[in-house]
Amino acid sequence: MNQGIVVASANGAIGLPAAIDVLRGGGSAMDAVIAGIRLVEANPDDHTVGYSGLPNMLGDVELDASVMEGRGLRAGAVGALKGYQDAADLARKVMETLPHVLIAGDGARQLAAELDFEPRDLLTPEAREIWSQRLHDDADRDASYLGRVRELVTASATDPDFAGIDEIPHGTVNFIARDRQGDFACAVSTSGWAWKYPGRMGDSPIIGAGNYVDNRWGGAACTGRGEMAQRCLTAHSVVTFMRCGMTLDEALEQAMNDLAHLDDPYKSEMNIVALDRDGNPGAASTAKDKTYALMTEDMEIPEERPRTHVHVPGT
Ligand code: GLY
Repeated sequence: MNQGIVVASANGAIGLPAAIDVLRGGGSAMDAVIAGIRLVEANPDDHTVGYSGLPNMLGDVELDASVMEGRGLRAGAVGALKGYQDAADLARKVMETLPHVLIAGDGARQLAAELDFEPRDLLTPEAREIWSQRLHDDADRDASYLGRVRELVTASATDPDFAGIDEIPHGTVNFIARDRQGDFACAVSTSGWAWKYPGRMGDSPIIGAGNYVDNRWGGAACTGRGEMAQRCLTAHSVVTFMRCGMTLDEALEQAMNDLAHLDDPYKSEMNIVALDRDGNPGAASTAKDKTYALMTEDMEIPEERPRTHVHVPGT
């Protein structure tokens, strides 16, 4: 029997005890990642995920999420979901109740209503204030939408105190678990790129971009600017590189190095957490001094560990 382990992006630490409790009770990796991620989606202090997430350019909060199982590669995802907080759980329901993988927009909302998910106004006064202030307050700002978004991306990449919160404008939460049976599961949830164009979906609901897990090789999940992971299929790349014989650290570095080849004026931070097939954890970031969180069954509290820094020009 394996010892259960859960890794998460740093903002997932508040959900790790709940996730590991599921594994201690003999529960599945999928139940564990959902138990953990629900708490992050409900956290009013996290403006990158679920309730209180930062909204799109129109002021609407739109959530993206996905889940995947390492045994059999079942997957589900929702995109541009409005009015419901539990996006990862809804992604799981897509996997379990529909013959589809990704449901977006009105369809995702309809499914949530049909399944009696609890509706909620996701925009909090604090998130509205951050959104409004950053979008409108500079007198000399570039008036075009593209120009303004570019300024916001640059500011968030270069100013560590940008809006006073971590990993915006494209923060996200990742969970990957391995249970006692040796099965892996992964969950990702996000309110996406703050100030995004309505309907924009990042890497989080795209299986292989923001999230991929395969019992045979391990799993990986991303936070950071989703368009980069979409174009390089970053999570799938990490798993594939391990399949081809690389160690976890080598696979993380190679996946990051691939991002250097992107022709992308909005290139910015990318972060990956991962487990190899033996349940060994690892994480990397294109930014310095970043951390991730993990918990095993024999830990009392989550542990924060440094991510390997991989320099990617332009990020
Ligand atoms: N990684 C989250 C996003 O780009 O939406």
